[in-house]
Amino acid sequence: SKPIVESAEAKSEAARKLKIGIYFATWWGLNVIFNIYNKKVLNAYPFPWLTSTLSLAAGSIIMLVSWALRIVEAPKTDLDFWKSLFPVAVAHTIGHVAATVSMSKVAVSFTHIIKSGEPAFSVLVSRFILGETFPPAVYLSLLPIIGGCGLAALTELNFNMTGFMGAMISNLAFVFRNIFSKKGMKGNAVSGMNYYACLSMLSLLILTPFAFAVEGPQMWAVGFREALSQIGPQIIWWMAAQSVFYHLYNQVSYMSLDEISPLTFSIGNTMKRISVIVSSIIIFQTPVQPVNALGAAIAILGTFLYSQAKQ
Ligand code: 3PG
Repeated sequence: SKPIVESAEAKSEAARKLKIGIYFATWWGLNVIFNIYNKKVLNAYPFPWLTSTLSLAAGSIIMLVSWALRIVEAPKTDLDFWKSLFPVAVAHTIGHVAATVSMSKVAVSFTHIIKSGEPAFSVLVSRFILGETFPPAVYLSLLPIIGGCGLAALTELNFNMTGFMGAMISNLAFVFRNIFSKKGMKGNAVSGMNYYACLSMLSLLILTPFAFAVEGPQMWAVGFREALSQIGPQIIWWMAAQSVFYHLYNQVSYMSLDEISPLTFSIGNTMKRISVIVSSIIIFQTPVQPVNALGAAIAILGTFLYSQAKQ
C-alpha cells in the first residue's frame, strides 16, 4: 500500500502547488491592473491622500456588504484582536499613503524598483531593532539590493525627492506591518481574508482625518472639476477601478499568507514587482536608460539571492 500513500501525497502536494500558483497569478494580475488605474488617476487628479483613502473605503464597503449578505462569514473578534491590529493598521496606513504619494510624483516603475529593496529594510530592522542575526550570505545579498536600487535612483531621468522618500518610507512601514501582522495572524481564528478586511477598516479610520487635513474637500473639488473637463466622466470609473483592485490584490495576497511562509510571500512579491515594472513601462511609455534598467535588474537579482540565502 506504500506506493498508493505516496502517490496520494504527491497528488495533494501537486494540488497545493497549483493552488498557490493560482493565488500568485491572481495577485500579480490584480496588482498590475491596480497600478495602471492608480497612475492614470494620479496623472489627471494628483490627490494621493484622497485616492488612498478611497481604496481603503472601497475594501471596507465590499467586506461589510459581504458580511451582511453572508457571502463571507464575519469574524468573531474581541477588543484584544483590535488592539493587536492597531499597530498593523498604523503601519499599513503609512506604507500605503507613502507609496501612493510616491507614485503621484514619479513613474510607477521607479516606485516599484525602490520597493523591490524591501528585503534589505527587513534585514536591517530585524538586525538593529529586534536583535536577530543572520548568516553572512544574507548580509552579502544586501549589497546588490542596495547598490542596484541606488544605481537606479541616481540614473532615474525623472528623479524626485518626494517620490524617492515616499517609496523608502513605504518600505520601512511595510516591514513593520509584516512583522506585526505575522504575530497577529498566528494562532488567530480570523482568516487571511477577514484579517485584511478588518485591517482596511481600521486603516480607513486612521487615514481619513489626515486626508482631510493634508488635502481637504476644497482642493478635491477644484481638482475634480479640472479632471472631469480633461478626461470626462471616465475619471470616475478609473477611480472606482483603482479602489476596487487595490482591495482585491491585497485580499488575495493576505489569503495566500494563510498557505505560504513569509519568505515565499516575499519572493512572490518581488516577482509581482517585475510584472508591474515591465507592464507600466510599456503602457506609460516611461523612458528608461540602459544603466537605469541595469540598476533595477541588479536590485531584483539581489532580492533572489537574498531569498536563497535565507532558505
Ligand atoms: C500601496 O498603494 O499601498 C502600494 O502600491 C502598495 O504596494 P505593494 O502592495 O506593492 O507593496
